[in-house]
Amino acid sequence: MAKTRVLVTRRIPEAGLEAIKSFADVELWSGEEPIPRNELCEKVSEVDGLYCLLTDTIDEALLSLAPRLRVVSTMAVGFDHIDIQACTKRKIPVGNTPGVLTETTADFAFALLMAAGRRIGEAAEFVKAGRWGAWDPALFVGQDVNGATAGIIGFGRIGQAVAKRAHGFGMRVLVNHSRPIPSELLAQANVEQVSFDRVIAESDFLSLHVPLTSETQQLIDKKVLNRMKRTAILINTSRGRVVDSKALYDALRNQNIAYAALDVTDPEPISVDDPLLTLPNCLVVPHIASASVATRRKMALMAAENLRAGLAGEDLPYCVNPEVFKK
Ligand code: DGY
Repeated sequence: MAKTRVLVTRRIPEAGLEAIKSFADVELWSGEEPIPRNELCEKVSEVDGLYCLLTDTIDEALLSLAPRLRVVSTMAVGFDHIDIQACTKRKIPVGNTPGVLTETTADFAFALLMAAGRRIGEAAEFVKAGRWGAWDPALFVGQDVNGATAGIIGFGRIGQAVAKRAHGFGMRVLVNHSRPIPSELLAQANVEQVSFDRVIAESDFLSLHVPLTSETQQLIDKKVLNRMKRTAILINTSRGRVVDSKALYDALRNQNIAYAALDVTDPEPISVDDPLLTLPNCLVVPHIASASVATRRKMALMAAENLRAGLAGEDLPYCVNPEVFKK
């Protein structure tokens, strides 16, 4: 019997690809860049399963070209690149990869926090540029992490993992979350749940861990940035569009806040001409918070398992829209 056909939209860790090949015929887009929209539209029409990345837009227009499609599996925890409603309407389950990248992403958020606080990126550039002269008491003076207040917006898995790290560095931790956090969790995590206004006003380091939704789009705008401490540092490992980039540029340039460290930008990739890249107090890296060998392998395998289950008509281990399985 012919195997089912799936489209994998980019080269993924080998273990994931091998797993998929064991249950389906694979069409792999192996280009250096994400699959172009026209290729995606053409290829999706002939497959039963779609294994995609956060660089692929899965919307109604695409789904309308895919009469055979029975499952969409993304190798990411964030699924803002997929129109979930449109998939649900077509009874197509969507799988994602929560959990496996939590600790790796939290490590990286904390690395950015430390790097921004202690100005590591700037200092490394300075040495490479041959500008290291005599020891100077005023050279790259930054902000202490120990004893500072960490503000965490979004207290899901990753936010909680960042809080643990903050405690390890002797920080006070304030959290803001869209819903009341159970008191046992607050006690166990040793954090205080506070209003949005308080987390903004009191944080020395503000780290964003919300999904991108219509509520969180440009959550950090000009008004919010103006209410932060002038010494505050913003860390974003969530999605670029959670922050108003233009307002952030102004705030950093006018030193309304001290620093920003961004793993994600709006748009991605950030243009080499983007004014944010001209600022010494803005550290930008290319969306790599989950990029460890072990974690990327786990993500690839988890997404492969979601794909397999969807093709077999089983419940997906990690499903964003489980309502599609209701009879
Ligand atoms: C995700 O999974 O959503 C991250 O942004 C990439 O790991």
